[in-house]
Amino acid sequence: MEYINNLICEAINSRKKSYTPYSKFKVGAALITQDNEIYGGFNIECAAYSVCNCAERTAIFRAVFEGQRQFKAIAVVGGKELEEDEFSSFCPPCGVCRQMLREFCNPKEFKIILAKKISEYKIYTLEELLPESFGPENL
Ligand code: THU
Repeated sequence: MEYINNLICEAINSRKKSYTPYSKFKVGAALITQDNEIYGGFNIECAAYSVCNCAERTAIFRAVFEGQRQFKAIAVVGGKELEEDEFSSFCPPCGVCRQMLREFCNPKEFKIILAKKISEYKIYTLEELLPESFGPENL
């Protein structure tokens, strides 16, 4: 997967623009489409706390707005920075974001890349993180 480094890099850079005055917990994501376009995203919070949008969904919505419907992987970074571009822990996507990703991918193939830095990451399929999922084919 030759795109992994680029994807992690884009997630790290996107995170820097997060709007997180309330939690101060900054998250960055980068989504790659089947035709290798990359869309970054960051979390956006709101004074009415429950309205915040996760980094993953920002990336998904940006891509879908641009006409994209088929994704192959997402990289996510977030939380406390140990030093520049290096994080103390992995930041797994919340349940809502896992379900939104499910809409636009093949869960057996789609990769979720959780990174602490460019050279330290782990990879799951969406099916591993969202087993027995409900998707468009169930309707
Ligand atoms: N958050 C994300 O953006 N993605 C995740 O995968 C987990 C949580 C955001 C939402 C909120 O702005 C902050 O992190 C703390 O929950």
